[in-house]
Amino acid sequence: MKYSPVAQPAGRAVDHRALKAVMRMVAQVERKNQPELFSHVQPHAHATARLTRFFAATCSRRVSSYGPTLDEIEYGALMHDIGKYFIDAAVLLKPATLDEEEAAVMRLHPLFGATAVSRLPGTTHHIRRVVLHHHEHWDGSGYPEGLGGTRIPLAARLVSVVDVYTALRSKRSYKPTLTKRSATVMLTEMAGRELDPCLVEDFIRMVCVREQK
Ligand SMILES: [Fe+2]
Repeated sequence: MKYSPVAQPAGRAVDHRALKAVMRMVAQVERKNQPELFSHVQPHAHATARLTRFFAATCSRRVSSYGPTLDEIEYGALMHDIGKYFIDAAVLLKPATLDEEEAAVMRLHPLFGATAVSRLPGTTHHIRRVVLHHHEHWDGSGYPEGLGGTRIPLAARLVSVVDVYTALRSKRSYKPTLTKRSATVMLTEMAGRELDPCLVEDFIRMVCVREQK
C-alpha cells in the first residue's frame, strides 16, 4: 500500500527562515532529551547534507530544472534520518546486528521522518520525498515502497549514494572508519543493486577530482 502523509503541492518553494528555525528547535530539543541519539544522527546529517549539495551541483546535468532545487536536495539530506529520533535508542545504538524485529522497527524511520517533515512549516514535496525514499534500492529491494530504478526520486538516489559513503567513512560503535579507497570500492560493489550505477560513477569521479586538488 502506498504511504501518503500530508499532501504538499510539488511547486511549493522552500521557506528557509521557517525551516532553519524549526531545525534549530528540533536540534535543541533532541540534544537535551536524547543526547546519544543526537550525536548519532546530527553530525552524519550535516556531513551528508554538505556533500550531497556539492555532489548535486557537480552533476547538475542530471538535475532537471523541473525537479528539486539544490536547496531542496540539501534540506532533504539534512533531514533524511530525522525519523530516527522516533526509534528506541536501544535499537538505534545497538553495537551488534539487529534481530528481525529490531530491523523491522528500524525500517520504519523513513515513514516516521516523512510524517514529521510533512508537518514542519517551510518543507516541500521534494524534501519529503527524499526523507521517505532514501532507503529504496535501485534493484527494488529497499523500503518503504520497494521502488526501483528511476522510479526512485532522483534527489533520494543522490542522497542514498552520499548517505552510504558518509556512513562508511565515519566511525560507528559496530564498525571502524573506512579509507576513501575502501569506501569507494564498496560503493562500486553496491552500484546497480542498492545504488544508482550512473550516480555512483559520477560520485566516485567527484571524490577522485577533490582528492587531486
Ligand atoms: Fe536512513
